[in-house]
Amino acid sequence: MPKSTKYQAKHPDGTGYIHYTPEEDAVWRDLAAQQTPNVQKYAAQPFLDGQAALNLSATRVPQCNEVSEVLRDLTGWSVAPVPALIGFSKFFGMLAERSFPAASFIRSREDFDYIEEPDIFHEIYGHTPLLTDQRFADFSQKIGQVGLACDTSEYAWLIRLYWFTIEFGLISENDGIKALGSGLASSPGELWHSVNEQTVVRRPFDVIDILRTPYRIDINQPIYFVLETVDQLLEASQRDLIADIKKAKSLGLFAPTYPEKQHA
Ligand SMILES: [Fe+2]
Repeated sequence: MPKSTKYQAKHPDGTGYIHYTPEEDAVWRDLAAQQTPNVQKYAAQPFLDGQAALNLSATRVPQCNEVSEVLRDLTGWSVAPVPALIGFSKFFGMLAERSFPAASFIRSREDFDYIEEPDIFHEIYGHTPLLTDQRFADFSQKIGQVGLACDTSEYAWLIRLYWFTIEFGLISENDGIKALGSGLASSPGELWHSVNEQTVVRRPFDVIDILRTPYRIDINQPIYFVLETVDQLLEASQRDLIADIKKAKSLGLFAPTYPEKQHA
């Protein structure tokens, strides 16, 4: 997670409504118009099914409340606006309660194609379709429950499982490998890269391997993990993930396959 942000959270009014300006709605409209044809080509069926179920607005920033209404009926999840950056304990605590923390601001046009921190386009366009799937919904809650139960020194281990599935997971479908993760669905460049780039390593989904694989948040991923079915996430949510973290720690991290970030 980035350590600072230039963005301010948008706060709901007394009725729970978040007011977006016409320009902010226009940024959503243009992001969705750019991304939707790509998602139809490269995103996995469970994502597309979720998008169809939510029927998100193409012309304005959707309200957390209206998305929550649909999610509650389908999987018991809701979406709650939060400041741009929150700590891990709040993050895990909300997931454990089936409440998805959504950074409520939307990026400026300056950051149209790439933004390091999550914004409302990433949160709603990228994340909420998958939360319509009960298997994915259960897995997401389990990450939160494990986060509350594990030692704070183990957060970095647990978050890799979140990163390589919920954010950047791939899945094998009849017509090839498709993008499942929200970080892919909301990223114009990385969506294509994740499924088409020849030099990328695509490894089979394996909880211990994932926990041992380091990543950088500010580059296209050089390694992805590929599910055969979303059922594997449900199976993972039934594992003793705290024991898995301890095992991964004893085996140690894999060496990074990317250059270390240069600090100014
Ligand atoms: Fe995210």
